[in-house]
Amino acid sequence: MKIAVMPGDGIGPEVVSQALKVLRVVAPQAETQEAPIGEAGIQAHGVPLPEPTLALARKADAILFGAVGVADEAAIERERRPGTGLLQLREALTLYANFRPAYMFPELIGASTLRPEVVDGLDIVIVRELNGDAYFGQPRGFEINQAGERVGFNTMRYSESEVERVAHAAFRAARRRHHKLCSVDKANVLEASQLWREVVTRVGQDYPDVELSHLFVDAAAMMLMRRPKQFDVIVTGNLFGDILSDAAAMLTGSIGMLPSASLGYERKGLYEPVHGSAPDIAGKDVANPLAAILSLAMMLRESFEMDDAASRVEQAVRAVLAAGYRTADIRQDGTQCVGTRDMGDAVVEALHRQAA
Ligand code: IPM
Ligand code: MG
Repeated sequence: MKIAVMPGDGIGPEVVSQALKVLRVVAPQAETQEAPIGEAGIQAHGVPLPEPTLALARKADAILFGAVGVADEAAIERERRPGTGLLQLREALTLYANFRPAYMFPELIGASTLRPEVVDGLDIVIVRELNGDAYFGQPRGFEINQAGERVGFNTMRYSESEVERVAHAAFRAARRRHHKLCSVDKANVLEASQLWREVVTRVGQDYPDVELSHLFVDAAAMMLMRRPKQFDVIVTGNLFGDILSDAAAMLTGSIGMLPSASLGYERKGLYEPVHGSAPDIAGKDVANPLAAILSLAMMLRESFEMDDAASRVEQAVRAVLAAGYRTADIRQDGTQCVGTRDMGDAVVEALHRQAA
């Protein structure tokens, strides 16, 4: 069990160290090695994905990732932007399928901005394609048009094989769940989406037991707010998935609760909380470590086939929520507001109590 640990920036290091406490309880045999990425990579080696960090990622069995990013990131040139390190890592390891579950913990229903009956029992997974689309499509850049104005441009681009592999990943996920898959695109406007829809439909013939539907992304965004429980698994492209997964995360009350897994052809995966680096609250011991801890649970299950250990971690998280522990982002009346470290300790204690 060789785990590359990439805490990254902002609240990343704080939440990752809580996940590592949990790892030491449920899998003390794991070997961990840390490497800088994002702004931390720039500080250490001048680039957001330093060569030694990529080398470590390549030889590891799995990657535990915190977050990357600094305030005002968009103003930095792309090669030196912290987020670029994460995009390069996803591309270098061909991590093409990003699983982002949005699960409503019953204890947190009051924390959602949506009415309880809309989100009670919510349990969906967004499978976001991670290696293509406008994120990586060429050509891209800036140019000067005939009027002498600057123009910025990107290319939304999907090949059949790129759509096929993520479609298979999504259909397999639907098979392990409630056998429903909704593919989200913008096929009424975009060629890239037209091809996406054709390929997903074709792949669907291999999965007659999975009910396949299609939605345009605007309608999908609306349905996520109106009747989110109609979904089981959603599969969509990189850009739409980036947006929809943040929206889906908020259904559950806090993006601070949600883990994710980025998987490729092998069992090796990158596991990261869906939330970002939150520079405004970094270093204050207020960030919610539960998304990082739940990301660790996903790692145990997906990369190491340690289902029991994964379930133990998830149960421990449920236990601390049930006991009334809350970080500031999920604070409710009548609960006890704790900091990042105390929340991590509470999960560790809950794990010890299980064993007893
Ligand atoms: C995400 C993030 C990244 C993305 C950024 C940090 C590059 O928003 O993982 O959703 O856009 O993919
Ligand atoms: Mg995002």
